[in-house]
Amino acid sequence: MKLFDVYPLFDINIVKGKGCHVWDDEGTEYLDLYGGHAVISIGHCHPHYVEMMTKQLNTLGFYSNSVINKLQQQVATRLGKISGYEDYTLFLINSGAEANENALKLASFHNGRTRVLSAQKAFHGRTSLAVEVTNNPKIIAPINDGGHVTYLPLNDLPAWEEELAKGDVCAVILECIQGVGGIKMVTKEFAQGLSRACKKYGTVLICDEIQCGYGRSGKFFAHQWLDIEPDLITVAKGIGNGFPMAGLLISPMFTPVYGQLGTTFGGNHLACTAALAVMDVMEQENLVENAHKVGTFLLEELKKLKGIKEVRGRGLMIGMEFEEPIKELRLKLLKEHHVFTGVSGTNVIRLLPPLCLSMEEAKEFLVRFQRVIS
Ligand SMILES: Cc1ncc(COP(=O)(O)O)c(C=O)c1O
Repeated sequence: MKLFDVYPLFDINIVKGKGCHVWDDEGTEYLDLYGGHAVISIGHCHPHYVEMMTKQLNTLGFYSNSVINKLQQQVATRLGKISGYEDYTLFLINSGAEANENALKLASFHNGRTRVLSAQKAFHGRTSLAVEVTNNPKIIAPINDGGHVTYLPLNDLPAWEEELAKGDVCAVILECIQGVGGIKMVTKEFAQGLSRACKKYGTVLICDEIQCGYGRSGKFFAHQWLDIEPDLITVAKGIGNGFPMAGLLISPMFTPVYGQLGTTFGGNHLACTAALAVMDVMEQENLVENAHKVGTFLLEELKKLKGIKEVRGRGLMIGMEFEEPIKELRLKLLKEHHVFTGVSGTNVIRLLPPLCLSMEEAKEFLVRFQRVIS
């Protein structure tokens, strides 16, 4: 059997990782400014993570959600503290799309409505509702095109207020820094106006923090830069440092109902252990502060470089937009200078390194990057 061929791949076989570096099967070392798509938060193969996961695997890998799993409560307690949302509750699942799917479902159970507002260029995942609120017709299959969603321009508050005022909108879903959309930033004025309008018209505000959250922006959540409090917050990617896991943080206005939400694998023992190990390291190594410090340095230095149309971002979520397509430039950076980066569309390079990127590694990246763009 062959693999279903849906990914355009680089011809590189990564077999080893440590911190912000990975190695291919020929022993070539690469600087990882991509973090396996913003997933590696505390660095590859962190010894504390490896030790905790190994120990858990030798104790119990999995049991179902029909029995008490005290690790889940430990994750909830720690996540409440670290994020500043101690009064919210937590529902655990396995992927970002699943988190958004459950958020939209919960919003609809809550207010009985079915319309959703989403931003132009938004990306929220590939399952039925998550893909419907994703503004990319190429990945919305006819069966997912349920007519629930209106896409609106980011930061155009009057346009969103006009739709909300109709009184029939179930939920607004928003990335406070758009990832796939090209590192587009939500303004404070827009976020606060939107939050007020959602409250006024009984609409649930969902912040998708799957890529921009979990410390990446230099605060625990990107929306915390904008001083808003969403009703639902979705997290994934960095929460497990590569172990598939996701979470839905739920405000106290929602009442849980037995059986309404559920999952076989969500919140299993290994996933919870991964999340606990990640939070240990984030706290011990001050990784949110590090993301802020190193990210601010990188942003400032990148803005000084000639040949880039615009540099955008916050913390270790950075986009560099070029006048021309960056395919060749990115390939050269990878093949000749051994740096992994991400991409948005055709003209934007995306940096999503592990949150432990050091100043030295950031400087090393700048040296290699300058060689390519000069
Ligand atoms: C903002 C955002 N939301 C949702 C998702 C979907 O997450 P997953 O691929 O884990 O389903 C992604 C993935 O890239 C994302 O960037």
